[in-house]
Amino acid sequence: MIELTNVSKTFSGQKILDDISLQIGTGEIVVILGESGTGKSVLLKHIIGLIKPDQGHIKIDGQDISRLSERKLLNVRKKIGFLFQEGALYDFMNCFDNIAFPLREHTRMKERVIKEKIQKILKLIDLQGVEDKLPSQLSGGMKKRVALARAIVLDSKILFCDEPTSGLDPIRSRDISDLIRNVSKELNCTTVITSHDIKNSFRVADRLILLGKGKIIADGNRSFFEQSNLPQVQEFIS
Ligand SMILES: Nc1ncnc2c1ncn2[C@@H]1O[C@H](COP(=O)(O)OP(=O)(O)OP(=O)(O)O)[C@@H](O)[C@H]1O
Ligand SMILES: [Mg+2]
Repeated sequence: MIELTNVSKTFSGQKILDDISLQIGTGEIVVILGESGTGKSVLLKHIIGLIKPDQGHIKIDGQDISRLSERKLLNVRKKIGFLFQEGALYDFMNCFDNIAFPLREHTRMKERVIKEKIQKILKLIDLQGVEDKLPSQLSGGMKKRVALARAIVLDSKILFCDEPTSGLDPIRSRDISDLIRNVSKELNCTTVITSHDIKNSFRVADRLILLGKGKIIADGNRSFFEQSNLPQVQEFIS
């Protein structure tokens, strides 16, 4: 369970998050929507402790991460898989080594076990046979898949995806959205995604949250959004 209580953050005089309170249940898939610059990424960064709130608390499974030391935060972050907006694969490592990186860095797993684990994950994300390829030899959609594999390789129970469909064509966008949903449900991950892409957000989300001017404008499932009379919601989904 992820819990934000009265979280506020101001950057150079501009209030980006204004007294946000919000709970995300275990196993839930939530998409954070909002125009560019509304603070979606800032919100995600608060939940992984990369940014500290000016006010308020952020708890993950009851632990207040807004008050933790860097060293303790590292332990919390190990439980969180993060799919960065740009994929952020290491260009000089092949796909196998990219996916293996968190295992080699954070566990004492034997190479044989790592290999088995990666075979299993590549099967799960339907991307076998790319182990020896460099990221530059893959399409954008494949890179996102490899980055997703790396994000879940430590058996994370929390998965964050910042704009997973950005830069992809409509078909790849749909595929990665479906994949995130399947993987997330299969592993029972609590998943938080940021997006502008309303169509795919509806495909992937159990629940959607629209941010605007530092506040939560709407919070509900797909039909709640489709039936909402709020002008900001209608504008966003039209
Ligand atoms: N570390 C920072 N220091 C100062 N200002 C920041 C910082 N991070 C973000 N901001 C500001 O906070 C605002 C929200 O940024 P954020 O990246 O969260 O937007 P976003 O909703 O994710 O936008 P996009 O859809 O384009 O990704 C922006 O005005 C940005 O300039
Ligand atoms: Mg962003």
